[in-house]
Amino acid sequence: MEFKAQSFDPVNQPADCLLVPVPARGALAEALLPLDNATGGLISRLRRTDLQSARSTALCHQPAGLKAHRLLLVSTGDKPLNDQSFISLIAGVASQIARMPIKSVAICLEAMAVPGRDRSWCAQQMARLFGEAIYRADQFKSKRDKPPTLGKLVLKSSGRSEAAALNRALNRGGAVAEGVNLARELGDMPANLCNPTYLANRARDLADKNPRVNATILDEKQMTELKMGSLLSVSAGSDSPAQLIVLEYQGAAKADKPVVLVGKGVTFDSGGISLKPGAGMDEMKYDMCGAASVLGALHAAIALELPINLVVVIPAVENMPSGKATRPGDIVTSMSGQTIEVLNTDAEGRLILCDALTYVDRFKPASVIDVATLTGACVIALGNHAHGLFSNNEELANRLLASGESAGDRAWRLPLWEEYDKQLKTNFADMANIGGRNAGCVTAACFLGRFTGNYRWAHLDIAGTAWNTGNNKGATGRPVPLLVDYLLGLNA
Ligand code: BES
Ligand code: MN
Ligand code: ZN
Repeated sequence: MEFKAQSFDPVNQPADCLLVPVPARGALAEALLPLDNATGGLISRLRRTDLQSARSTALCHQPAGLKAHRLLLVSTGDKPLNDQSFISLIAGVASQIARMPIKSVAICLEAMAVPGRDRSWCAQQMARLFGEAIYRADQFKSKRDKPPTLGKLVLKSSGRSEAAALNRALNRGGAVAEGVNLARELGDMPANLCNPTYLANRARDLADKNPRVNATILDEKQMTELKMGSLLSVSAGSDSPAQLIVLEYQGAAKADKPVVLVGKGVTFDSGGISLKPGAGMDEMKYDMCGAASVLGALHAAIALELPINLVVVIPAVENMPSGKATRPGDIVTSMSGQTIEVLNTDAEGRLILCDALTYVDRFKPASVIDVATLTGACVIALGNHAHGLFSNNEELANRLLASGESAGDRAWRLPLWEEYDKQLKTNFADMANIGGRNAGCVTAACFLGRFTGNYRWAHLDIAGTAWNTGNNKGATGRPVPLLVDYLLGLNA
């Protein structure tokens, strides 16, 4: 999709749709008076009738007096907007517009404001939300719906200098949307097609298309040589071999320490011998959404030519039961040398991530962020709204929290205290892979913390946020917006 900021006259702007958010009460913004006058007071009238409550819309076809083919008015209500209400308002109209036969949309934001946010922030969110709205998950339907026609968004700027800033913001938002949509596409794919080898091939494609990206894929033999006994114990039951995917993006001097993103890539989590119950098990195809999100973030970093070094590491496995599968009670040795008693083969995410966290030490990282659909307990704690955030570093934690806020992709911090870590004690190995029912997302994070090197580390548990269930079932692409905001902030 194409995004552009420019100053234009809304009365004479030729667009398939002119989108204008308007508050329900108060004097009409001065910038909208020409539009109101040209339409014979249409906006004023509709504000008194159809646009009284927030998010209500009025769509006028071939509005007399305007060049645009449609005028879509959306009410911002009678209270000031906040980040979330702005985002849900725009997401709503974006999906409405993306379902109509509209090729281009022109937008006037003069009549609305989000307290505490500037127009660049609004522009970036607009581009992200419209870019996300054109995503369709119908690639496996034999009769596909008509693809969305929307291809262009023009945002009204007050003049040349504002246009430059808004164009940068639109560009960022568009790149975030592409990253989000890549993550959704991979997440929504079925596990019979999206297996570890498929993820590795997609990673290779990404590297082939971008000279700044280098791909290294380790196979099971190479992982055995590295003594990744924990990771390999998870894929033991699967006929799809494990892959360790490493992508290195160089956007800064070679000597610059990289940010490392690690994504959980369990392409299907049956639970293994500790088999999951049947209901909803299909959704465990989404257990690679951490991997998908770090690929999405990398995609955006490439598109924006970010001046940073970035390493993406994906331990990709399938967790299946079989005669070769790991049993509850088995003891495995991780790459770090620490031994693990696998009391539950369904706590497999931590078993692959621990070896990846040991592996990434070789990159001498500036920071390491792992992203994982790690625990059902995190869904109980935070629901579908916030990612669980854990970190051994205050500054890193605060930056990620702030990135979540400004990206509209929020996280909430939880503790990594020693008291919780003690729940991992067992009589037979250095640790167990589960810490009991209490605070399951915290003990899972504590487990990971035992494998982090001497680097700044954060863990995002996205079990509740990576996909929607029910009628809306589908990957969300979160936390790509948070991650990209963090990466953008590194050079700010
Ligand atoms: N992938 C699951 C976590 C999960 C469950 C994510 C439901 C989203 C929705 C993970 O591998 C898992 O099975 N975790 C177990 C851990 C338990 C055995 C300690 C869980 O959360 O039940
Ligand atoms: Mn599991
Ligand atoms: Zn899992």
